[in-house]
Amino acid sequence: MLATLRSARNLLTFTNARGVQTSAVRASDHLFVHRDSEQDNPNIPFEFDEVNKKRIDALLAIYPEGHKRGAMIPLLDLAQRQHGWLPISAMHKVAEILEVPRMRVYEVATFYTMFNRKPMGKYHIQVCTCTPCWLRDSDSVLNAVSKAANCEVGGTSPDSIFTISEVECLGACANAPMLQVNDDYYEDLTAETAESIINALKKGERPPPGPQNSPRFAAEPAGGLTSLTSPPPGPGEGVRSDL
Ligand code: FES
Repeated sequence: MLATLRSARNLLTFTNARGVQTSAVRASDHLFVHRDSEQDNPNIPFEFDEVNKKRIDALLAIYPEGHKRGAMIPLLDLAQRQHGWLPISAMHKVAEILEVPRMRVYEVATFYTMFNRKPMGKYHIQVCTCTPCWLRDSDSVLNAVSKAANCEVGGTSPDSIFTISEVECLGACANAPMLQVNDDYYEDLTAETAESIINALKKGERPPPGPQNSPRFAAEPAGGLTSLTSPPPGPGEGVRSDL
């Protein structure tokens, strides 16, 4: 208990020393209120293309009758990938396909920050600033990305190439700090490596995803194994011989 209190106090001291820096535009803080606009209103038709229609058939076949609404997230994801973001007409189309009230789709689409309810840049840069990444200086990464992309956090660059979001944990804490570019993870970052990723994207290149400038291939210990260093025992190891 004492040790826990001490480590909490140390963390607080460290926090005060560095200052907590978060943007006022975290993706999870958005208040999702729909207002009809020229580019997002129910009168703009939305239709899935032929390839996605086949994908939808395959997805729906997974779910038994009466449970088709289980395909809602995959269908919303398809709509977003096709359109680049998720307009209200696409949500209505998903509700129509799944035969559910539109409100059920609104609830899901506005709950998960993976669904973007406004036009996005070509590259969606999501910078994690949750605790493990923050402790590994994600602030510098976020600032470097924003500067290199000429784009404020929570906004889209004037050339519509980049949208930058500050997000909660993306599940790659062992490789903190990290960011996500569309579907790719870039990990073990510094401000410099983050900047070079943005510069490569500007040139139309796709830098290799994964740990950057690191001896690691994935999330293994950078200094070599410290456990599980011998082959695992075979089947029956330690079991009584009469069993
Ligand atoms: S805290 Fe950044 S990936 Fe988990």
